[in-house]
Amino acid sequence: MFGLPRPSGKAFAYGVQSLIDAFHRAGQGHVFAFLDRLDAAERSRLFAEAAEVDLAELDRLKRTLLGTAAAVEVGDLAPAPYVPLPDNGGDSLKWIQARAAGEEALRAGRVAVFTVAGGQGTRLGFDGPKGTYPVTPVRRRPLFAVFADKLRAAERRYGRRIPWFILTSHQNHDATEAFFAQHRWFGLQPEQVLCLRQGRMPAVDSSGRILLETPGSLALSPDGHGGSLRALERAGAFDRMQAAGADIISYFQVDNPLVRAIDPAFIGWHLLTGSEMSSKMVPKAHPEEKVGMFCRRHGRTCVIEYSDLPLERQREVDPATGKLRFLAGSIAIHLFSRDFARRVARGEDGMALPFHRAEKKIPTIDADGRSIQPARPNGIKFELFVFDALPFAAHPLVLETDRAGDFAPVKNAEGADSPATCRDAQLRLFASWLRACGAELPVDANGQPPFPIEVSPLFGDDLAAFAESWRRLEPKPSPVPAGLCLGADA
Ligand code: UD1
Repeated sequence: MFGLPRPSGKAFAYGVQSLIDAFHRAGQGHVFAFLDRLDAAERSRLFAEAAEVDLAELDRLKRTLLGTAAAVEVGDLAPAPYVPLPDNGGDSLKWIQARAAGEEALRAGRVAVFTVAGGQGTRLGFDGPKGTYPVTPVRRRPLFAVFADKLRAAERRYGRRIPWFILTSHQNHDATEAFFAQHRWFGLQPEQVLCLRQGRMPAVDSSGRILLETPGSLALSPDGHGGSLRALERAGAFDRMQAAGADIISYFQVDNPLVRAIDPAFIGWHLLTGSEMSSKMVPKAHPEEKVGMFCRRHGRTCVIEYSDLPLERQREVDPATGKLRFLAGSIAIHLFSRDFARRVARGEDGMALPFHRAEKKIPTIDADGRSIQPARPNGIKFELFVFDALPFAAHPLVLETDRAGDFAPVKNAEGADSPATCRDAQLRLFASWLRACGAELPVDANGQPPFPIEVSPLFGDDLAAFAESWRRLEPKPSPVPAGLCLGADA
């Protein structure tokens, strides 16, 4: 039944046979049950997919995660401390020192940027890699272009090339690379942008057997953004960073055009506190906001996902401050020390990220190979979360940031975190910079201007940089006209 594919060389044949044997030994031999129905190309694909599976890892997951409750332990939980902004009681002098330290690190070329863009963007309902989504209010620049402009702005300011790593999935890798090539890497050097494909994990049934999606393919899905660290290791990215002298990784998600992708104060705090992993927080806008929360558990800092903490606990109020007890929302912006990230990627010193399991409806096949579209969850997917590295880090730091200038994600087609809320947040930010510099621009009670305007990161990516460009701009567009684009031709 498990005949070999038409031989395309002895070595291949032996390799395939040992793959099949290993699957049988692991109790997963059924994935080859339909081999005799497949043509040569289909067999090759199935073998290639099977070769991706780490059977030992899957066996560990079977033994540890199956049958256990999916719930994350949240009993013994306290809020994590964080460093507040100067306006909220933080030490202004330390913030100034941090910014200077960060700028020095940037001038020394110590920073690499890492964007995770492997998600499917299902909730947004956008067909294509999310980074290609046209996000800016006037020029409709895609997310990737906005980040590229931020890199270019920082390169001009600090005089160093900044390597940019982008995590893609099997599904969007080729489209992402083609998009960059088509747009000539948005003015960056092609060799400074590296797209790395994230790993995949097989979905399993309740007894741990790998599910087949078709007779010739496994039910595989991305291994979560925690897989990003393993992907860096596999792609040799840590070595590339080391060769370039970069020992700090600035990590953020593809869905957030306001992210301060290269933030000197954040970098400086990370360095001055000797932190191996640092994260930005904003006070949660309301108890139900769908963000992870920075907590302390067993004496370590961690992120507890919104879906894992019961709502009544998310609503708890700290009597001393009158604010939410679990106030510190994670906006998924982190700094990693390179060597720490590499140790986690390799799972050294017991630092392997734990898998999370999720019960899902997984299209599969029956014993005769006919496809099944399940109405109820029929299988389990495994994912890694990058924030699970936080409890391993020495001196982890949680730093407050200004939501208005750092966080406006595009996640859903409508409602919260949608293109509309993201556009409004961009408009409010640009309007606030213009008005702070004395430009005449009406805004409503929320700071919203009555028409679209746009500021390229190349004109200014924060108030200080904006003010500097504005000072030099002649003539100054004031009153501000509808559709103003600053820095569009930079
Ligand atoms: C995420 C965080 C949440 C945080 C919020 C802030 C998780 C589980 N939750 O929620 O704590 O408060 O962002 O906006 O991360 N990605 C990959 N590969 C994958 C899966 C995801 O690259 O396999 C990338 C996506 O492209 C995206 C990011 O990770 O950039 C977030 O993924 P998503 O699963 O959508 O998490 P959120 O629910 O947005």
